[in-house]
Amino acid sequence: MSELNKIALNIVSSGKGILAADESTGTMSKRLESVKIQSSEENRLKFRSILFSSKSMNNCIGGVILYDETIKQKYNGSTIPELISKSGAITGIKVDTGAKMLAKVKEEKITEGLDGLRERLKNYYELGARFTKWRAVYLISDNYPSKLAINVNAHALARYASLVQEAGMVPIVEPEVLMEGNHSAQDCFNKTSEVIKKCFDELIFQKVDLKGVLLKPNMILPGLNSNQQISSDQIAELTLNCIINSVPSEVPGIAFLSGGQSEFEATKNLNTINKNNRTKFIMTYSYGRALQQSALKHWSSNINDVEGTQKVFNHRANMCSLASMGKWTEEVDKN
Ligand code: 13P
Repeated sequence: MSELNKIALNIVSSGKGILAADESTGTMSKRLESVKIQSSEENRLKFRSILFSSKSMNNCIGGVILYDETIKQKYNGSTIPELISKSGAITGIKVDTGAKMLAKVKEEKITEGLDGLRERLKNYYELGARFTKWRAVYLISDNYPSKLAINVNAHALARYASLVQEAGMVPIVEPEVLMEGNHSAQDCFNKTSEVIKKCFDELIFQKVDLKGVLLKPNMILPGLNSNQQISSDQIAELTLNCIINSVPSEVPGIAFLSGGQSEFEATKNLNTINKNNRTKFIMTYSYGRALQQSALKHWSSNINDVEGTQKVFNHRANMCSLASMGKWTEEVDKN
């Protein structure tokens, strides 16, 4: 087993998933301000280190994705990567520099960050990172995602992934087809399948070792503004079919993003996926909002209540962990 394959499996095996705490300062500021907390460097560190020192880190979180600011911070004398590895989790880092408008196309985006990436990766490795994330975003509408957006983002994701493997780390490849829009679940299935297939064509073309990659896709859902209602069983079926049709069998794990689903929905849908999982892929979570929302709300009501905040976070992490094994129930979530 290669070193990269070992790292990838350690992150997603045994009921573990990923805590995505890599919100850029702009996004984190919005999250904090939405609960009336000032977005200072100190407050961002305070909230995040409460999560990173929670009990559930030991059995539910295999990896934590950090933002550049956080990987360089210290808490109680330890660096943040040291704090994370104390719980047995692996430190990851977001290395893209954001999605920007494509030239000549008004609405679609290309993710940037390849310039100087080789040097930045070396630095992140020295700081303790062993895996990375790069997120491409795609809109769905009648004309989108265009072949242009699909091709250029796949190309960038593959260039990123091969540099990351060269630096001794596992790349998370995240092609996120957004929930915004009035598209049907079938549209989401068709577009997501096309996007993921193209990503793997490029990864293979650029000689990326698929055993040392984790895929972070969206689940297959109807658009937020569509009137379509589908059951968790249908979501799981479409999502499983999409993965089976588009992901090569060498990939060790799939870690879904929550993408705007509520904590409850993201957990329930992951559980249904795992109850019906007929593939060899490990299917787990790489959630940002669906792991942090309630904890942030609780913390904002009393920022000195470390224990209370950790209790809320531990519950969410435990529920996601059960869901990653298909063992979650609504009753246990509510108690
Ligand atoms: P959400 O789970 O909040 O969608 O965030 C995951 C993520 O890392 C998006 O890039």
